[in-house]
Amino acid sequence: MSTVFVNIALSLDGYMAPEGMTMEDPGYKNWGEKWGKLMAWLLNQQYMREKLNFGPGGETGPVNDMVRHTFERTGANIMGKRMFDQGEVSWPEEAPFHTPVYVLTHEKRDPWVRPGGTTFYFINEGPEHALALAREAAKSRDIRISGGADVIQQYLNLGVVDELEIALAPVFFGSGRRLFENLSEPRTQFHIDTVLDGPNATHLRYVRQ
Ligand SMILES: NC(=O)c1ccc[n+]([C@@H]2O[C@H](COP(=O)([O-])OP(=O)(O)OC[C@H]3O[C@@H](n4cnc5c(N)ncnc54)[C@H](OP(=O)(O)O)[C@@H]3O)[C@@H](O)[C@H]2O)c1
Repeated sequence: MSTVFVNIALSLDGYMAPEGMTMEDPGYKNWGEKWGKLMAWLLNQQYMREKLNFGPGGETGPVNDMVRHTFERTGANIMGKRMFDQGEVSWPEEAPFHTPVYVLTHEKRDPWVRPGGTTFYFINEGPEHALALAREAAKSRDIRISGGADVIQQYLNLGVVDELEIALAPVFFGSGRRLFENLSEPRTQFHIDTVLDGPNATHLRYVRQ
């Protein structure tokens, strides 16, 4: 059975996204600068640069290996509509997933097929239905709950998240989209599996007890 995992970057004060992060207003409260600091550990990894068409170069080593492993293990992604909306205007034409992506939304929309194996399916029937579709598509590979905070919270509340991978970046946002809120009882218990030091983030991996 597929493992269901979360792999995200978090500010030191617990935010997944800075306040006002919208593509319509790139200057709002300097969100771009904050986002850059949150993602600095990722965007210069060789594997990621290749995926985003940033050109050759980039860091190699344990963090790069971890990023590669994350993408290679993933057979299906699930995300929220706000994450999708931002990606739709900023991902390269070959969106960096190469799997089916199930977008939780109230909007009715036909699947959006991208070159390179990524198809976005717009799911109106809730998180359990999206997870069932993702399990079928992923086969023996794993399912990544890609974000944002709203969607991760729903899957944590369903008790189906097996692994929580957090890149804790040394930046304070002060406000924005908090990851750990709206969580209901009983909460899943995790234990620490691994900790990896990097120059721009500490990589924490928790596994369900
Ligand atoms: N730090 C990281 O690693 C990381 C990773 C991923 C994303 N992010 C950031 O996180 C932010 C987005 O997170 P977010 O929490 O604001 O939003 P989100 O989880 O991406 O999307 C929430 C939206 O998805 C739709 N939705 C969610 N659950 C649904 C359900 N059960 N049924 C129907 N529709 C549902 C609703 O939109 P509609 O009602 O409009 O359909 C809802 O407003 C973005 O800024 C993104 O860049 C950060």
